[in-house]
Amino acid sequence: MTQKTNSGLYRAVCLGMALAVAAQAEAPEPLAPLPLTADADTPSVVLGQRLFHDPKLSDQGKRSCASCHPLDSGGMDGKVRAESADGVSLLRNTPSLFNVSFNYFFNWDGVVTTLEAHTEKVMLNPKIMNAKWPELIQRLRAEPDYTEAFSRVYPDGLTKANVVDALSNFERSLVTPNARFDRFLRGDTAVLDADEQQGYRLFNALGCVACHQGVNLGGNLFQKFGIFGAPQGEQGPVDQGRYSVTGNDRDQGVFRVPSLRNVAVTAPYFHDGRAANLEAAVDTMAEHQLGKRLAAKQRDAIVKFLNTLTGEYAGKTLDIKKTANP
Ligand code: HEC
Ligand code: HEC
Repeated sequence: MTQKTNSGLYRAVCLGMALAVAAQAEAPEPLAPLPLTADADTPSVVLGQRLFHDPKLSDQGKRSCASCHPLDSGGMDGKVRAESADGVSLLRNTPSLFNVSFNYFFNWDGVVTTLEAHTEKVMLNPKIMNAKWPELIQRLRAEPDYTEAFSRVYPDGLTKANVVDALSNFERSLVTPNARFDRFLRGDTAVLDADEQQGYRLFNALGCVACHQGVNLGGNLFQKFGIFGAPQGEQGPVDQGRYSVTGNDRDQGVFRVPSLRNVAVTAPYFHDGRAANLEAAVDTMAEHQLGKRLAAKQRDAIVKFLNTLTGEYAGKTLDIKKTANP
């Protein structure tokens, strides 16, 4: 009798476990790997790459897109907040441009939803490129090899629309595949050690993944920064975030959830760069987005997991350029 009950229980437990395993196998991962390839050598991308690195695009001829988005160093400048050409600190921290095309909205407030619209905006921004289009087009046309290169790619040659198109296409090529985490998602589970896997489990179990989701672990939602009280750290200038776009009171202090791809090489963190390192950023997130205080061991495991999100560009794993922006 006892034996029968026990074996019934045993069967029920086994069935439960089997169902749990089946559910796990079927549940779609909330996160997905980056595609392994990106269009890196189509003619407009090659042209966009040249424009991206060309200081002639700015009014004073002194800075290019790459001045603030260096591609040999995480795709951002490593500064707390970006600086104008005359060295004045701007409102926000520079985001990385790697994997930017997988974001649904651009800038910390999500003011635009296409890369083309963003490129037009950044070119005209008086504190960033301050381009005067007619003058700029003239300046570029003065270089025969630009004129030729544009004519080869675009039937109507060197125009504003084509400059914007080439820059935006180049941005779409900035993909960093093959992070260790992506290899893990593709089935190579041994590529993450026990601590890193524990960090990933915590990232899911604590609820980080509810906001940092999808192929970019972010970039597709808006959320208040500081759901559980104001986050710590030295604040930047007052920034109304998404409110500055919508004018809705409920958007005060709301920001786009940033992508966590390559986050280990894009310090400092948050829209105003208030967190100097990942440890501080993760503690702030747990406390102020989730209302939880992490044990040091938990936080360290999450940081280790975040370090597995660093991918490769031009065949090399991204790293912080030691000499850049000390
Ligand atoms: C002075 C430094 C600086 C320069 C130069 C600069 N950027 Fe940026 N970039 C920033 C900052 C800061 C932001 C965030 C702005 C915001 O959120 O309001 C940004 C945001 C972006 C974004 C949005 C990224 C995202 O995920 O939301 C793109 C795309 C971008 N820049 C492309 C460019 C291009 C293309 C150029 C050259 C034409 C350029 N940037 C020049 C500092 C710079
Ligand atoms: C309720 C939504 C939400 C949750 C939950 C959440 N985050 Fe965030 N996360 C955000 C937002 C919004 C930002 C941007 C805040 C800002 O700078 O204004 C952010 C920023 C970050 C950054 C800084 C990225 C950068 O480039 O500056 C890191 C790192 C981060 N989160 C990790 C985590 C971790 C780890 C967890 C879980 C412990 C977590 N987040 C939970 C919404 C969330």
